[in-house]
Amino acid sequence: MKKKLLFASLLFSVSTLFAQVSKPIEMPYVDYPIEKGDHDEVTQQYCLICHSFGYVLNQGKKSRPYWTGTVSKMVNEFKAPIPKEDQQVIVNYLVKHYGYESDAKH
Ligand code: HEC
Repeated sequence: MKKKLLFASLLFSVSTLFAQVSKPIEMPYVDYPIEKGDHDEVTQQYCLICHSFGYVLNQGKKSRPYWTGTVSKMVNEFKAPIPKEDQQVIVNYLVKHYGYESDAKH
């Protein structure tokens, strides 16, 4: 009798666990509009594979060496599949729209 009760309570707790998981989860959708022009489509094609454009916008205006280094980091460390010539196009786009021409490292 005791065993049956234990089994029943076990079943109950498992089913409540599933009940919690199957509840719909609502996530807020955050859209980060990306500035148009200068081959923005190349940047979108490659830079949105792993993360949203929020990562790019959050940095504020950055110098050319910063963007060159960041794009290299995405390719070398995180294995972003971006051909060399497209990396250059992307860096130019980022410097123009989300940066400034400077030799500063930041
Ligand atoms: C292969 C996956 C991948 C691709 C493609 C990718 N990133 Fe990232 N990115 C990452 C990861 C992983 C991080 C680190 C996230 C963390 O540390 O929280 C990151 C972080 C960043 C950051 C935050 C600052 C930093 O240095 O960590 C920036 C800016 C950034 N990415 C820009 C870009 C740009 C621009 C592109 C397109 C050239 C791009 N990413 C493409 C994986 C990727």
